[in-house]
Parts: sequence; C-alpha cells; structure tokens
Amino acid sequence: MRLAINIDHVATLREARGEIEPDPVTAAGICELAGAEGIVCHLREDRRHINDRDLRLLKETVQSKLDLEMAATDEMLRIAIETLPEIVTLVPEKRSELTTEGGLNLAAGKEMYKEFIKELKSKDILVSLFIDPDPANVDHAVELSADIIEIHTGKYANMRTEKDILTELSKISVISTMAAEQGLIVTAGHGLNYRNIMPIVNIPEIQEVSIGHSVISRAVFTGLEKAVQDMLQLVRNKNY
Ligand code: PXP
Repeated sequence: MRLAINIDHVATLREARGEIEPDPVTAAGICELAGAEGIVCHLREDRRHINDRDLRLLKETVQSKLDLEMAATDEMLRIAIETLPEIVTLVPEKRSELTTEGGLNLAAGKEMYKEFIKELKSKDILVSLFIDPDPANVDHAVELSADIIEIHTGKYANMRTEKDILTELSKISVISTMAAEQGLIVTAGHGLNYRNIMPIVNIPEIQEVSIGHSVISRAVFTGLEKAVQDMLQLVRNKNY
C-alpha cells in the first residue's frame, strides 16, 4: 500500500497568522524525502489553506505525484487544466464545513460530472472520485469513467464501538472488492490515524491511503520526517 500525505494543515497554520511560514511546499519536499509516494492538497474556493502560489510551486517541485483535491466548479476546472496535476480528486465542498464532510452525490449531478471528468481526462489527468462506501457509488464511478475511487473513511474513523467499527469496515471492504473487480483503482482517506489504520491496510484492494491531520499533528511533536516514516511503517507492514 502507498502513502500519500495531505499537506493542507501546514498551510492552515501559516494562514492562522497570515505569514509566510510554515511553507506547505517545503513540507511536501520533506514528506517525499521521508518516503511519501504522493502529495495531496485541496484548493478551496475560499483559499483557506492552500493557495494558487502553493499549487504552482507544488506542481514544479513534487517528484512523486500531485493529487489536487477540488470541487467540480468552472474555476477549479480552469486551474486544473492550467496546472496539470497527475490526479484530480473531486470532492464536495461547503463553505461552512471545517473539513470535507462526506462523499460526492454522484447520482444528483451525473451529467455535470460526466462532462467535467471528460475534460480532465482529455488532458491525461487521472480522475478520482471521493465517495461514501455505498455500492451504488461504484456503479456511478464506472459509468462516469473515473479512474480511481477514494473511499471516505471518516465514518469508520468516528465509530466508537467494536460493532459499529466492524459494520463500517465491512462496507469499505465490500465496495473495495466491487470497484477493483470493475477495474477501478481503490484508495481511501479521511480521519485515518496511527491507531485506526491497520484494518484499512489489511483490505487487499486498497492501493493507497491519503492522510493529513494525524500525520501533521504528530509532526508538531516528533518532526515531519519521523511522523511520515512512522505512518509508512504501518502502511507497509500488513498485520502489524
Ligand atoms: N481525502 C480527502 C478527499 C480529504 O478531503 C481529506 C481531508 O482534507 C483527506 C483525505 C485527509 O483527511 P485527514 O486530514 O483526516 O487525514
């Protein structure tokens, strides 16, 4: 399994003071030196963390692969086509949310998503759809010719009883198998941390996890390089 690091929280810290540090672009370089296999950033409409300058520099400097998370808007389509990241992950976006709260509602916007995805794919950008673990979403993703699904693990991460955790895991596992059988690349992310990652690592179809908050939080105490390496050790050692 591969580890991609979301560096938005480094930018959030910078924006808290409106200063130039800490620089998320430097963070991306350190994550890659520590072994991360991808860098993820979410350019939001309100630029509350990553901004256009960051994205430009990330495109120039990231050597693994750059995954741009964004909403399906005309502005973001234009930026994605100018920037040409290796991957675009489409996410729903609400101004009032602290972080992405759920997966895409593909059923409600199928025609719009179809056109949007076609445009991105015509520029050789791989398209990932952030979806809740519902089998219907796999069918939609196939119909929309997505390359990747990123399964939203936020609900799994928030569960507290063994029974609820197992229920969520089972949903994630079922749609991972379904999606892989249909030829989609399967990834997962949101709310994953050093304590809850292992059951996700042990789902064979999941090829990559996208992790931000827990790694950047640990980095405050241990340094970013060690925080990435600690997570890599878990992600690469199944049945740890
Ligand atoms: N994947 C997606 C689509 C996200 O929106 C986020 C949060 O920005 C993540 C993964 C990473 O989540 P977390 O910061 O909880 O690790």
